[in-house]
Parts: sequence; C-alpha cells; structure tokens
Amino acid sequence: MTTQFDTIDFHGLPALRMRSADGASAIVTMHGAHVVSWQPKRGGERLFLSERSPFATGKPIRGGIPVIFPQFGPDGPLPRHGFARTRDWALVDQHAGEDFARGIWQLTNTADTEALWPAAFTAEITVLLGGDRLDVELAVDNTGTASISFTAALHTYCKVREVELATLDGLEGARYRDQTQGKRLLTDGDEQLVVSGEVDRLYPDAPPEQVLGTGDGKLILTREGFPDIVVWNPWEEKCAALADMAPDGFRGMLCVEAAAAAKPVIVAPGESWSGRQSFELR
Ligand code: BG6
Repeated sequence: MTTQFDTIDFHGLPALRMRSADGASAIVTMHGAHVVSWQPKRGGERLFLSERSPFATGKPIRGGIPVIFPQFGPDGPLPRHGFARTRDWALVDQHAGEDFARGIWQLTNTADTEALWPAAFTAEITVLLGGDRLDVELAVDNTGTASISFTAALHTYCKVREVELATLDGLEGARYRDQTQGKRLLTDGDEQLVVSGEVDRLYPDAPPEQVLGTGDGKLILTREGFPDIVVWNPWEEKCAALADMAPDGFRGMLCVEAAAAAKPVIVAPGESWSGRQSFELR
C-alpha cells in the first residue's frame, strides 16, 4: 500500500484519510479533530462508531476519539464536555515517513469560544499512525496574558466484540470515583474489570498501562501527561435513552479515556501542557 493522505467526505463531513506505508490507516474529521476510524497494520477496525451518530456542525460524534476540552463532563459553566468536539479544527500539517503517517490539527480562540471561555489558546491534536500503533496527543498553549485552567480528555470508544466478554486489566487496587453512585470513592478490588452493568468511573492518578481484551486481540493502552482514566459504558437503560446510539450499541464499545479531569490543569501565560494516549495492538 502506498503512503498517502486523501481528503474525503465522511458522512458529509470533510475528513483526512491517512495511510502509513506499512498498511495502517485512520480517518480524522476536521469537525472536532476527531479520529473516527483506526485500522492497524494487522487490519480490522479498532474504534467503535455509532451508526446513529449525527455528523453535523455543532453536534458531537458518538464514537471514535472525541477531544474533550476545556471542560470534562457537566461540572462547570461550559457545554457538557467542552466545545472542542463540536468545533471545526484546521489541518496544519501532514507528513509521512517510511513507517508512519502524521497529521496535526489546530483550534484557536475566536470570539465564539471567548464568549464561552475567556481564554487565549492554541490547542493542537497530533495523530501518529504506523504498524499496529496509534498515538493521539493533545497540546494546549496559553497564548494570552492570564493563566488558564481547564480539564480535558481523549474520550476513546474502543471497539469490543461483546462488552460482557471484554476484560480490562491494569486497574487492580486503583481508587475511583463511581459516577453512578454520586461520585463515591471506592477501590477497585478486581483483578480484571468485566462489564456487566453501567460503568462510569473516574480513576484519578491511574496506573500507567491498561490491557483491553477486545475479543479480537489485545489492545495495550498507555498515556503520558493525562493523570486520570475514565471507564464508561452506559449499559442498556442509559443507552436506550441516547438518541445517537442504537439500543444494543453499548455491547460493541467500552470507553477507556485518558483524562485530566480530577483536578484542573493550570497553564501560565506563554506556557503549554500536553497529554497523549497511545494504543498498540498485540
Ligand atoms: C463519560 C462520562 O466520560 O462520557 C459519562 O463519564 C458520560 O458520565 C459519557 O455519560 C458520555 O458523555 P456524552 O456527553 O458524550 O453523552
């Protein structure tokens, strides 16, 4: 397969299809700088994307890797999960080497974002693809004269063959806030996380590596800069209430999110912050 970048139409949204010379591919929409597809060299789609997702300006895409910035969740004055996932980002660089392909997208403050969040910033998403690995990095520069404070996440929807048979290793003994129980602080006593009901957990300062048994290979998830992990599956009842998910959509996904959500990131004027989530199929 040749190395290439193509601008494509993805359900009506402009998107970049990236291919590395060694046979991996990804699709990223300009809307949200959102990775909506990742197929490693070994093949097979690795990200869940809801068949009922809207693909429209101003609306979040359900699935893939939504970029959550500058507010995680509903706690704060901004729209739920911030505005980055519903804005158009600009593709500022595309580059391929012998065994990788890389795209970079930027979002900067406008009168529209300032009306929601009075901050001067440049946010950048870098998607690096090659072999059986994908790296997604969010970097934020404070371009203003006052400190900025935000929460953020890469809200990754991992595709699993059947969620009840999926396993997540690497969180044993970790503390988490159970969002289904009023944010109660609990300790994960299980060797493996197995989903058999609604799961909505924020693990602050989580261990550095998790292994997801997807039913079609093992996905190794690591991160840098993002201290926390969120694990989410809405299960039957909550899924049925989501207009952008099929009633059984929850069975094909497990969100394992790299997050800076337990406490805000503070960036001084002229300084920057970055966080990365990496995936490797083994
Ligand atoms: C998760 C949250 O990160 O995102 C959940 O922990 C939330 O509480 C989920 O339901 C999905 O959010 P949204 O806004 O994309 O429906």
